[in-house]
Amino acid sequence: MTRPSPPPDTPVLPAHDPDALDQAVRILKAGGCVAVPTETVYGLACDATNPKAVAGVYEAKGRPSFNPLICHVDTLERAHSLIKLDDQGLALAERFWPGPLTLVGPKRTPSPVSDLAAAGLDSLAVRTPRSEALRTLVQRLDAPLAAPSANASGAISPTTAEHVKDSLNGRIHLILDGGPCKVGVESTIVSLLDPAQPVILRPGGVSRENLETVCGVLAQQTRANHSAPTAPGQLTSHYAPNASVRLNATQPVANEAFLGLGTQPKGDDVVFFDLSPDGDLVEAAANLFTGLRWLDRVSDRIAVAPIPETGLGEAINDRLRRAAAER
Ligand code: TXA
Ligand code: MG
Repeated sequence: MTRPSPPPDTPVLPAHDPDALDQAVRILKAGGCVAVPTETVYGLACDATNPKAVAGVYEAKGRPSFNPLICHVDTLERAHSLIKLDDQGLALAERFWPGPLTLVGPKRTPSPVSDLAAAGLDSLAVRTPRSEALRTLVQRLDAPLAAPSANASGAISPTTAEHVKDSLNGRIHLILDGGPCKVGVESTIVSLLDPAQPVILRPGGVSRENLETVCGVLAQQTRANHSAPTAPGQLTSHYAPNASVRLNATQPVANEAFLGLGTQPKGDDVVFFDLSPDGDLVEAAANLFTGLRWLDRVSDRIAVAPIPETGLGEAINDRLRRAAAER
C-alpha cells in the first residue's frame, strides 16, 4: 500500500473526540503519522511494525536514521511480548507504568517491530504512556506505536498542539490536541541490558531518586562507557533554540532574556520567563520547553538561572546543557 501524502494544512482535532480517534486509526492503518499528546511531550506516532510508516516519521522529522524510536504500548503484556523483562524490569514497569519511564531491554526475536524503528539494534525501547489517546490507538491497531517527539529533528520538543503545528504543519497527517503536557520533559530512559547494572540513558520525567527506591543505585551513561549514539544524551546539541543560551546566570546582562526559577531579574525592561514562581521543579519541568520557545521568539540571547540538580532538576539541566551546547 502506498503511504497517503500529508495534507498541506495538517488538521488539529480534540484528542478525546471519538471521530478524531477513528480518523487517527484509519491514518495509522494506512501507514500515515499522527501527533498524539502524552504526559511528557507530544509524540509523532506511527505503526511500529510498518517500515514505510516508520520511514515517513523519519522523513517528517528530518531525523538522522541511526536514532532508534521508542515503542509505545498499552499493557505490560504487550511490552513483555516485545522485550524480555527481568525481575528488575518488571518491578520498574509495575511501579511506574503507565508513566514517563522508558525501558530498554533485549528485543524478542522474531520481532514484529520493523528494523528501521529499532535502528537495527538487538535492543528495543518500550514505554506505556499515561496518555489515554495513545493507549487507545495502540489497542485499536493491535500494534505498538513508534513515536519520537513531534518536532523537527534537533528542535525543542513540543508540549502543546500548537508547538507541533508550528514545527510540522503540512508534513504529517493529523494532530490530536490534548492540551499542554503535564510532565513537560521526555521520559527517563533506563537500560536493562546489563542485568547487574541498570543505567540511566537519559534523565527525564521520573527522577533518579524515585527509580532508586525500586532498583537500587543507577549508573548514568557517559560517553566513556558508551560510544554509539543511542540516546539523545549522545547528540550534544539536541534541544536547540536559535538563541544562544548561557547557563547558571544569576542575572542577565545587556540584551539577554532571562529564564528564571522563582527569581526576578533586576531591571524593568528585561524579558523574562519564570519556570516556577515557587521554585517547584515539577512545575519548572512542565514549563521548560514552552519557556525556551517563548524566549527564543523574542530574543537571540537567553540567560538561564541555576537549577538544582535534585529530582526533575537532573532532567531539566540535561536539556538546558544540550540547548547551550555549541552547534
Ligand atoms: O517522553 C518520551 O520519551 C517521548 C514521548 C513521545 O514518548 N518520546 C521521545 O522520543 O522522547 P525520542 O525519539 O525523541 O527519544 C527517544 C530516544 C531516542 O533518541 C533514542 O536515542 C533512545 O530513545 N532509544 C530508543 N531506542 C533505544 C535503544 N534500543 N537503546 C538505547 N536508546 C534508545
Ligand atoms: Mg526528541
